[in-house]
Amino acid sequence: MTDWRTLPKTELHLHLEGAAPPDFIRTLAGEKGVDLSSIFDENGAYDWADFAAFLRTYEAACSVLQGPRDFKRLVEAVLATSSAHGVIYTEIFLAPSFCGGGDKGAWAEYLAAMVEGAENARASTGIETRFISTAVRHMGPEAAARDAQVTVDVPHPMLTGFGMGGEERHLTAADFARAFAIAGEAGLGLTSHAGEICGPESVGDTLDHLGVSRIGHGVRAIEDPDMVARLVDKGTVLEVNPGSNVALSVVDDWDSHPIAKLRDAGVKVTVSTDDPPYFHTDMVLEYEKLAEHFGWGLADFNAINRVAMEAAFCDEPTRQACL
Ligand code: ADE
Ligand code: ZN
Repeated sequence: MTDWRTLPKTELHLHLEGAAPPDFIRTLAGEKGVDLSSIFDENGAYDWADFAAFLRTYEAACSVLQGPRDFKRLVEAVLATSSAHGVIYTEIFLAPSFCGGGDKGAWAEYLAAMVEGAENARASTGIETRFISTAVRHMGPEAAARDAQVTVDVPHPMLTGFGMGGEERHLTAADFARAFAIAGEAGLGLTSHAGEICGPESVGDTLDHLGVSRIGHGVRAIEDPDMVARLVDKGTVLEVNPGSNVALSVVDDWDSHPIAKLRDAGVKVTVSTDDPPYFHTDMVLEYEKLAEHFGWGLADFNAINRVAMEAAFCDEPTRQACL
């Protein structure tokens, strides 16, 4: 089997809190005297049964990430792992809601700490990082607009995008148009989760109302040939997370994952890990599975990484350096 570890990779879809190793969260819980035993299974892994339970476990784990120092440590730990898996350029979702609850002064402190963590990681491993500020959909449109506003009020060259994750079944994309307009007018790159838990209509709504150039997941577009054609026509880039989709039962198994069909249809697909410890995955494992189930090899992965770098929310010198 090919060893994909050393292949230079671009990852566009990684949630900072969702990348926290269980031991990292357990240590913080111990330091803070918080009993989080209910979110871990008997093997010490994160415990959840379906998407709603995943979001609950995720937010419980976030409750012990309590200050800029915790987030700086987390950025360093996550980037060390990414770099060890061959990632040379990564975009990480940060959530102002988990970093001071949308307060501008607090967010500025958290962001400065996370930037410092990413700069330390670049100095020690060479990994290049950009941050995507992210609204949490089930916290509602007001919180999303507030998150967008604090994001544009505290600009930083390393923070280049705005996105939205969370419970896709909550409201519709149009309800979040104001948040995306605030971020888009400030020149941030835009992406939103859609077509993961909900079907192709959610992808269409997101394209109609949020002005995104990329979609997080988007894989359920495959259920509607017209939506696939629309993605091809617009050149929308999908941040696909196959292992996440298998773990969350968005698809039955690896063989039925639509990533190869979408790519063959002309959709721009990329590969990321979403929340690796929750889904027992990493970038090397994703590549191994794609090679095993779809016969992808070096030329395919190089092409996928080129698509990702071309869609990255970064300046041209950075893009050229990573291509
Ligand atoms: N937040 C973290 N991971 C997510 C996912 N897979 N879908 C929606 N929101 C998320
Ligand atoms: Zn995600």
